This record gives sequence, C-alpha cells and structure tokens, in this order.
Amino acid sequence: MLIRVPVRHDPLPSEITPRRVWDKRRDLIRMAAAGIALPLASGPVNAQTGKPALKLAAVPGPFASTDKPTSYRDVTTYNNFYEFGLEKDEPARRAGSLKVRPWSVAVEGAVAKPTTFNIEDLLKLAPMQERTYRMRCVEGWSMVIPWIGFSMSELIRKVEPTGNARFVEFVTLADAGQMPGLRSSVIDWPYREGLRMDEANHPLTLLAFGLYGEVMPNQNGAPIRLVVPWKYGFKSSKSIVRIRFLEKQPITSWNRSAPQEYGFYSNVNPEVDHPRWSQATERRIGEDGFLTRKRPTLMFNGYAEQVASLYAGMDLRREF
Ligand code: MTE
Repeated sequence: MLIRVPVRHDPLPSEITPRRVWDKRRDLIRMAAAGIALPLASGPVNAQTGKPALKLAAVPGPFASTDKPTSYRDVTTYNNFYEFGLEKDEPARRAGSLKVRPWSVAVEGAVAKPTTFNIEDLLKLAPMQERTYRMRCVEGWSMVIPWIGFSMSELIRKVEPTGNARFVEFVTLADAGQMPGLRSSVIDWPYREGLRMDEANHPLTLLAFGLYGEVMPNQNGAPIRLVVPWKYGFKSSKSIVRIRFLEKQPITSWNRSAPQEYGFYSNVNPEVDHPRWSQATERRIGEDGFLTRKRPTLMFNGYAEQVASLYAGMDLRREF
C-alpha cells in the first residue's frame, strides 16, 4: 500500500481553498454523507432564509393520498408551533432562530438498547420515503402534505422495547434562547405528546425529516417531527429531542392544560365535537374562497381502513 507522507511545504487543502468556501464544502460533504442531497442552483427557495432549498432524496412510499397537495407556500407559512408564537404566520417569520445542528434524540425507558442518536445517524436509519398524507387540525382546518421520512416502527425495532413498553412519550425542544414563544404560559413547556405502543408501531406513523422534496423547514418541526395522520395535528410533535417508552400512559401537554377538551387519543372523529365547536366539517387550506363549501370530516381522517381495528371495542366518545 502506498502511503503519502505530506512534506513540510505541501499546502493543506484548506490553504488552497479560501477558509469560508472550505468550511462550506465540508458541510456539504457531511450533508451528502447523511443522505441530504446538495442545494440546487435553481428551484424551490427556503421561505425563511431565501436560499435554495436543501433537497432530501426519497422514494415514493405507501398510503399516498389522492387529494391535491396543499401549496408549498401554505404548508410552510400557515403553522402551529407555539414555541415561536401563537399566530399562524409567526413560526415562518421567527423559527429562523432554531438551531438544528448539532441535534440528538435520546431514546430511552423500557427498551433493551437505550440510544442517543445524532440526527445524521437518524437520517440514515432507514430508506426515506415520500408519504402524502391528509392532516386535520383540531381547530377545523386541513392540509395535504407530501412528507419525507420513514415509519416510526423502524426506530422502535432498533431499540428493542421490553414487555413493559406500553406507551411512547415524545418530548420536544424547549430552549428559551431560541424559542421566543416560551415566554407564553399557554403550555407547560416542553411540549409533550404520547401514543399507545400499537399506534406508534403502526406503519402509517411517520418520523418526518422533510416535506415537498426538501429538508424540513424549521417552522414545520425541523430537524425531526412525528406525523400521525389519523389524529388531530397536535399529536404530531415537532422538533423532538427525547422519546421515552413507558409502562403508564404519559400526561400530554394539551391534556394537562385542558383535559375536558383534549383527550389522550385525539382521533379525528366527526361524531365527537370539541366542547366549543363542531368537528363535522373542515376547511381545506387553499380552498377557502367565499363560496367554497367546507369538506365533511372523515372518521380517522380517512384512514379508518388502516387504523379502525386498533380501537375495536373502545367507546370513542369516552376515550376521545
Ligand atoms: N409541536 C410543537 N413542539 N409545538 C407546537 O406548538 N403544534 C401542533 C403540532 N406539533 C405544535 C407541535 C399542532 S396544534 C399542529 S396542528 C401541528 O403541529 C401543525 O403542524 P404544521 O405547522 O407542520 O402543519
């Protein structure tokens, strides 16, 4: 084997290339190694930075909704992410302060292999798929979003849950230095959500890293979020830092702040009204012309065929 020994005046690559360009090139190589494709010279532009969007390679996945996807603009500018404010346009305007590297997710609790994954390793854990899902917010609006990610079950398999793992809790970032919305006491931070183990393991349940072919915009929950399309949107935690496997049902943020309004299950159900409004219909974002009729809300948001059996024998009015 030929080993090249640098002589004293061999210039370092970083000396040939200006430092700024060199650092950027190293970032790009790191991103490519982590499965993130390189920025395009032309094409979609990140709403926050104004820079070309970073593409995230994915193959078409199962369960694709045939509904027309909501526009990229609406998906990335009409958001709920209370860590960045309560108004729909605030996350897009303010989440630029979220630092998404370095980022790690601690997976712990009732598992044989507790692991802290750094985000680069998570991006390589399973093949990325594009999954276009209908999403229904508890507030009565809906979108259709082409997410990129892989089933949560892929991660669950890696950490080997023990027989005591009956629930999964998701804890998200709460850093007042980066998240101005934490000054509000609307939620007892950090934002927490939970699923039953069979729900977390269901193939529809997605860990998402991107949307519309690009790396997740900060306002949509970068760098890693959950997507559970048959439940109201608030179950889909953004910017996750901890996943805990538990024997007991965890207390979730919304259940803690208003238990009579937000139950643990929060399955989309046109027959169970929110105490302050009907859930029978929904407004599809992008279809809100003056004469546009609302759409009827579908049981389990249209995913009954896939998930209804998870709730066989349960009284969904009581366990809402
Ligand atoms: N996750 C965190 N950490 N903080 C939030 O405020 N809002 C939830 C959910 N996940 C929220 C969150 C709500 S109410 C909804 S409807 C969805 O994110 C919105 O996701 P989107 O903005 O990508 O459509």
